[in-house]
Amino acid sequence: MSKNYKIHHHSYDVIVVGAGGAGLRATFGMALEGLKTACVTKVFPTRSHTVAAQGGIAGALANMDEDKWQWHFYDTVKGSDWLGDQDAIAYMCREAIPAIIELEHYGMPFSRTEEGKIYQRPFGGMTKEFGEGGQAKRTCAAADRTGHAMLHTLYQQALRHRAEFFIEYFATDLLMGEEGDCRGVMALDLASGELHIFNAQIVVLATGGYGRAWQSCTSAHTCTGDGNGMMLRAGLALQDMEFTQFHPTGIYGSGCLITEGSRGEGGYLTNNEGERFMERYAPSAKDLASRDVVSRSMSIEIREGRGVGSKNDHIHLHLEHLGSDVINQRLPGIAETAKIFSGVDVTKEPIPVIPTVHYNMGGIPTNYHGEVVQLKEGNPDAVVPGLMAIGEAACVSVHGANRLGSNSLLDLVVFGRAAAHRARKIIQPNSKPAPIPQAAIEQALERFARIHHAQGNLSTAEIRDNMQRTMQNHAAVFRTADSLKEGVNKLSDIYQSYERVRVSDKSLNWNSDLVETFELANLLACAQVSITAAENRQESRGAHAHEDYPERDDKQWMKHTLTWLDEQGNVRIDYRPVHDYTGTDEVEYVKPKKRVY
Ligand code: FUM
Repeated sequence: MSKNYKIHHHSYDVIVVGAGGAGLRATFGMALEGLKTACVTKVFPTRSHTVAAQGGIAGALANMDEDKWQWHFYDTVKGSDWLGDQDAIAYMCREAIPAIIELEHYGMPFSRTEEGKIYQRPFGGMTKEFGEGGQAKRTCAAADRTGHAMLHTLYQQALRHRAEFFIEYFATDLLMGEEGDCRGVMALDLASGELHIFNAQIVVLATGGYGRAWQSCTSAHTCTGDGNGMMLRAGLALQDMEFTQFHPTGIYGSGCLITEGSRGEGGYLTNNEGERFMERYAPSAKDLASRDVVSRSMSIEIREGRGVGSKNDHIHLHLEHLGSDVINQRLPGIAETAKIFSGVDVTKEPIPVIPTVHYNMGGIPTNYHGEVVQLKEGNPDAVVPGLMAIGEAACVSVHGANRLGSNSLLDLVVFGRAAAHRARKIIQPNSKPAPIPQAAIEQALERFARIHHAQGNLSTAEIRDNMQRTMQNHAAVFRTADSLKEGVNKLSDIYQSYERVRVSDKSLNWNSDLVETFELANLLACAQVSITAAENRQESRGAHAHEDYPERDDKQWMKHTLTWLDEQGNVRIDYRPVHDYTGTDEVEYVKPKKRVY
């Protein structure tokens, strides 16, 4: 069967898979370094999910108030609930400043202060003076369309530097060498249905998160964990997959994002008694506590019968008091979104909101140069030659157990840039990549043909729906041992049910049935390791709130979870230590303490 496909072969120094913020920054960074680079992307670059990011990008520019990158570092360590690697966090917070100035020089249309500096707004968990100096204004914004502004700026730079693109190509599998190094990737040209084998010295996975494993999320339909799925199929481990961020303010019903910037500009949450309940849960930071804290507080209010609406099942977000000037200038996008998706005029009424899956802290383990690392013969930081990962697909780990808002756009550009610098150091431009073993190509082709010709009795949509419901109910804001156990059992059955999937459309041109079936395989793999890792972690830390183990347990659990998945769907678990050093004498290691806001 696999003999019938038309196959094209290519050779590059670097192939970047994915054209969101991280993928684009890496793509033109690699081109700038003189490396022959192409970006393979399943959507047109400016449609990547980064376009949906709203509130901003964090960096201690000190445009509005005194600020230091060391304070940003402290907040990020605390936000991560001490699961973040402090050397990587120090690198990101220090590099934030040049990376944002660079974006400004590339022409990114930031909002401006009266003096013409980049406008910076308050965001959750961002403070001054190591948590003692009150709220920081650190999040650089282009109104509430920062991701849109950034993505277009980066794409323009990629065009300027003549980076090559394979647009609307879906990457199906990594192609590995006999020594466990990466040699390339296979992709389907969605328009022609022809297959492409990319042989490269380095493959960079910048494929984003897997929010679509849940029923309600702020993520685009394209966020299907494709890079993570490829990793697991290649026999490589993912890291910290139990940590899923719920954004406090997804629109009730549709899940669309209402930026945290709306609370940064002065918005607040109330329950059905009209009470600003965050004052009880986080007396100092209130509505700008970190996201896990706000999402849990909202869930408790709802659970205890103080939710709003006829079913008491959501919360109100108020912006009415901000006035139309602030809303039109700083929050025009969410005013429109709220009108379309909840029928609300935000200048007159509160927005109905609910915690909604937003971000995956876990992903492909890397060092802060973007190189993929694995546990090998006792070495927890063994680099996989030829393979890098950046952006939400990666777990550097700078976000640990909980990401701070506006640290994601930052992570995209800082590590996209870092990967390009590293690549130039470790490979020679225009050298022939090591050849891809024929067996690896055959294996990828056979899998492709198997799925293409799948004749089972279950539709892709049916299996996907079962998975999404299970993740929504069992990998939720609050988790219990019983519910997680039940979730693991259900998910295992759903994972097995993929063997009975049916692809009804056998054509190869623009076959969305086929592509969704490939995406489902990736989502199922991510879901399976996520829920199993969640059941395994018997403590509460960051976004993993385990009701049977309500405390953080640093003695047992201050370690990264590694998960492997075999072909039968069995998950194997091991651990990597958290880096307890900063790698620089410019900032001190932050010792673990109780996390209060
Ligand atoms: O709320 C927001 O604007 C989202 C930002 C983020 O996730 O970093």
